[in-house]
Amino acid sequence: MKRVLVIFGTRPEAIKLAPVIKELKKLRTIKTVVGSTGQHKEMLRQVLDIFNLKVDYDLDLMKSNQDLFDVTINSLSRLKLRLNEIKPDILIVQGDTTSAFASALAAFYLKIKIGHVEAGLRSFNKMSPYPEEVNRKFISAISDFHFAPTKMSKQNLLEEGIGNHHVYVTGNTVIDSLLDVSKLISDKKLSVKIEKQLIQLCNSNIFNKKIILITLHRREKFGAEFKKLLNTIKDLAKENPNYNFVYPVHLNPNVKNPVTEVLNRIPNIVLVNPLDYLSFIYLMKKSYFIISDSGGVQEECYIFKKPILVMRDVTERMEAIKAGYAFLVGSSDKIIKRKFNQVDKKLKNNFNFFKTKNPFGDGKAAKRIVKIIQDNL
Ligand code: UD1
Ligand code: UDP
Repeated sequence: MKRVLVIFGTRPEAIKLAPVIKELKKLRTIKTVVGSTGQHKEMLRQVLDIFNLKVDYDLDLMKSNQDLFDVTINSLSRLKLRLNEIKPDILIVQGDTTSAFASALAAFYLKIKIGHVEAGLRSFNKMSPYPEEVNRKFISAISDFHFAPTKMSKQNLLEEGIGNHHVYVTGNTVIDSLLDVSKLISDKKLSVKIEKQLIQLCNSNIFNKKIILITLHRREKFGAEFKKLLNTIKDLAKENPNYNFVYPVHLNPNVKNPVTEVLNRIPNIVLVNPLDYLSFIYLMKKSYFIISDSGGVQEECYIFKKPILVMRDVTERMEAIKAGYAFLVGSSDKIIKRKFNQVDKKLKNNFNFFKTKNPFGDGKAAKRIVKIIQDNL
C-alpha cells in the first residue's frame, strides 16, 4: 500500500492541512501518516482539538524563544530518523514555515517525492516576509507537485521555470476549513456558548461595541518597528473610543512582551491569549473590520465580508488587494490612520468592498489535491 506522510508544525499549517488529511483518510488504497515537528505547542494543540486530528509522530521540538537555527537543525536531524522509518512514497507540506522547509529538505535528501500545498506565493522581497519568502522558494525548487491556490501563484511558478504539467491550480485549503467551521458556528446554541466563552476569556463584554479585530506577529517587524505599529494602534483606540480593539496575542515573546508593554491598560483595547479556531472565526464573523499581518486572515476575511488593513509593506496575497477588500498600509502611522478612517467611513455608508468572487477558492481545494496525489501515486 502506498504511504503518504503529511507533516506540519505550526497553527496555520495544521488549519490548512486538516482538510487534506481528512480527504486522504477516506481512501482505502493509501495509508496516511500524520507527523508534527512540534514547532508550535499550545497554538497547534488548539487546532488539533478542533479538527480532531491525530498525530502519529511528534518531534516535539518547540523551545521558548527558539530561533531559526533551532527549528531547522532539530527538524532536520529528527526527521532523518522518522523518514527512514516511515518510508513514505510522498511527503506533503504546506506553505512557508521553517517546519515546511526543513521537512521538504529532509525528504529531498532521501529522494522522497514532495507535494507542496499553497505553492507559488511570492512577495518578491527576500526580507519580507522573513524568512517565509525564501522558505517557499526553496520548497518550490525541490517539490514534485505544486498545488497553487490561484492562477497568480501558478504564474509565479511558471516564471521561475517550473514545468506547467507539475503545477495545479486548486484553490486554497483554508477556505475548505473555514467553510466547515462556519457551518458549525451558524448553529445558534453553539454560537451562544462561544460568545459566553469569549466574554470570559477577554474578561470584558467585547460585544457591547463594534469590534476591530487585530492580529500581528511577523518576524521582520520585531523590535522598534513593531513598537511603532503598536503605538499607532494605541492612538487609533484612543481616537475611536466607541470601538473595542480585540487582539488575540501570539505567544512568541517577541510579540507578547511589547504588546503587553504598549497596549496594556487602554480601556477599549482587549488583549487575549491565542483563540481556538472556532472562537477566532466567530470573532471574525462578529467584527467590524480587521487589522492584521497574517497570511491566513487575509484569505479568510472574504467569507465574512470583513475588510482588512494589511499592516505590511508587501503581501504575497495580491489577489486580496486587487479584489478591493484588503489594503496594504505598511508601517506609516499617517497612512494607517488615514486608511482606517476611510474604511470606517465607507462601512458607515454601506460601501460594498466585496464586488468580485472569492479569489482564494470554493472550498473544494483538498478534494482536488487528494485526487491529484491519488492519480500520481
Ligand atoms: C511561525 C512561522 C511563521 C508563521 C507563524 C504562524 C517560521 C520561521 N515562522 O512563526 O511563518 O506565520 O509561525 O503563527 O516558521 N510559542 C509558544 N507556543 C506556541 C507557539 C509559539 O509559546 O504554541 C512561542 C515560543 O516561545 C516559540 C516562539 O513562540 O519559541 C516562536 O515560535 P516560532 O514557531 O519559532 O515562530 P512564530 O513567530 O510562531
Ligand atoms: N487564528 C486562530 N486563533 C487566533 C488567531 C488566528 O485560530 O487567535 C487562525 C486564523 O484564523 C488563521 C490562522 O490562525 O487561519 C493564521 O495563523 P497565523 O496568523 O499565526 O499565521 P500566518 O497565516 O500569518 O502564517
